[in-house]
Amino acid sequence: MSNAGFSAGGMALEPIETASVDELRALQLQRLQWSVRHAYDNVAHFRSQCEAHGAHPDDLRSLADLSRFPFTTKADLRSTYPFGMFAVPREQVARIHASSGTTGKPTVVGYTLKDIDTWAGLVARSIRASGARAGDIVHVSYGYGLFTGGLGAHYGAEKLGLTVVPFGGGQTERQAQLIQDFGPHIIMVTPSYMLAIADEFERQGLDPKASSIRIGIFGAEPWTNEMRGEIEKRMNLSAVDIYGLSEVMGPGVANECAETKDGPTIWEDHFYPEIVDPETGAVLPEGELGELVFTSLTKEALPIIRYRTRDLTRLLPGTARTMRRMQKITGRSDDMMIVRGVNVFPTQIEELILKQPMLAPHYVCVLGREGPLDTLTVRVEQKPGAALSNDALRACVAALSTDIKAYIGVSAGIEVLLEGGIERSMGKAKRVIDQR
Ligand code: DLL
Repeated sequence: MSNAGFSAGGMALEPIETASVDELRALQLQRLQWSVRHAYDNVAHFRSQCEAHGAHPDDLRSLADLSRFPFTTKADLRSTYPFGMFAVPREQVARIHASSGTTGKPTVVGYTLKDIDTWAGLVARSIRASGARAGDIVHVSYGYGLFTGGLGAHYGAEKLGLTVVPFGGGQTERQAQLIQDFGPHIIMVTPSYMLAIADEFERQGLDPKASSIRIGIFGAEPWTNEMRGEIEKRMNLSAVDIYGLSEVMGPGVANECAETKDGPTIWEDHFYPEIVDPETGAVLPEGELGELVFTSLTKEALPIIRYRTRDLTRLLPGTARTMRRMQKITGRSDDMMIVRGVNVFPTQIEELILKQPMLAPHYVCVLGREGPLDTLTVRVEQKPGAALSNDALRACVAALSTDIKAYIGVSAGIEVLLEGGIERSMGKAKRVIDQR
């Protein structure tokens, strides 16, 4: 793998990160035209979708013309399972990843060697934006294997010239031990699993604040700014948000910049973002909240045009970079709970749990039914060692349920559990249990 553009210890920005908006838009249009044509010429499924839609690559004269093209959804990847969306002969596909997919067939994605190099470059850019320094050690606790988290993080850290510890998920006791022994400066892990590792530090009598870790690069699941504050305080580190999805590439589609920490900067030279109305699919004006849609601009093996991510956010102007940011994701449309007609996201509950000094951010939302009515029960742990008295427990339950009613508008039952009462995730936390 080449390290072009990433000189040893070189933490300088790439020229495109500080290019003018005009330069960026011109590059995007040129790449978009290539990408759409590449998909049209080489993916029969996409071509027939375009034909049914009356869209042709020749129509693409401006970035706005993209809205004439059909969306791609998970259903398209499923119906062409496993390799039907590939735009290069299978022999040129160097690597396959797949989503675990709780139901039905997994979603399969492929990469040429060049795609892997591009991906590594974008994760390297992400780690650098997170505040990495030459010589840093990176502990990777995202899962290795078909999930894109582990290998994606790994190749990026290597490309940046850092030292990688490819731990992967699980074996929490050993994670804590090796962090203690190897002294990593950066950890890449889901925020929920970071909390489990921090708990394990304490269980072993180690102070999480005293660990060598300076930066946490957290993603793969929604997490709130309140959770950021909690982890930063508890681990004495700087926490930044990394975003991505396998269909579009993997981790490193967008990443927060350490100097602003104001939502992930989208690496727009490789992914063109749109925000659409989740119901009608209409493109929404910049700044409005809606569903994030991505078009890949440079991918060879799996060009993806107007992919419906189901993630809800808004586009924000660039700050630390020319490229636009996305607001920290509040939730996926899949995770949205509808409780007696009110839309509720687990992140809204997380925000309120973190306002309670006696509660730990280990929680799950349980949906049930009482007669014709939906019920929501929030199960949450008390802080380790809190040993709440009955009175304190009652006060805590009352405060949380009052907040949920006031801020979200639903009545929720609250169950406060002892430490360990909520199952720990070793990757993406499961925040909703639907028993209806
Ligand atoms: O989770 C890729 C990844 C790995 C991203 C490691 C960051 C770090 P998938 O398994 O395909 O890929 O899941 C993608 O996870 O559509 C979002 O719903 C959610 N997600 C990913 N990053 C974030 C984030 C990886 N920073 C799905 N904030 C996406 C909120 C996120 N949600």
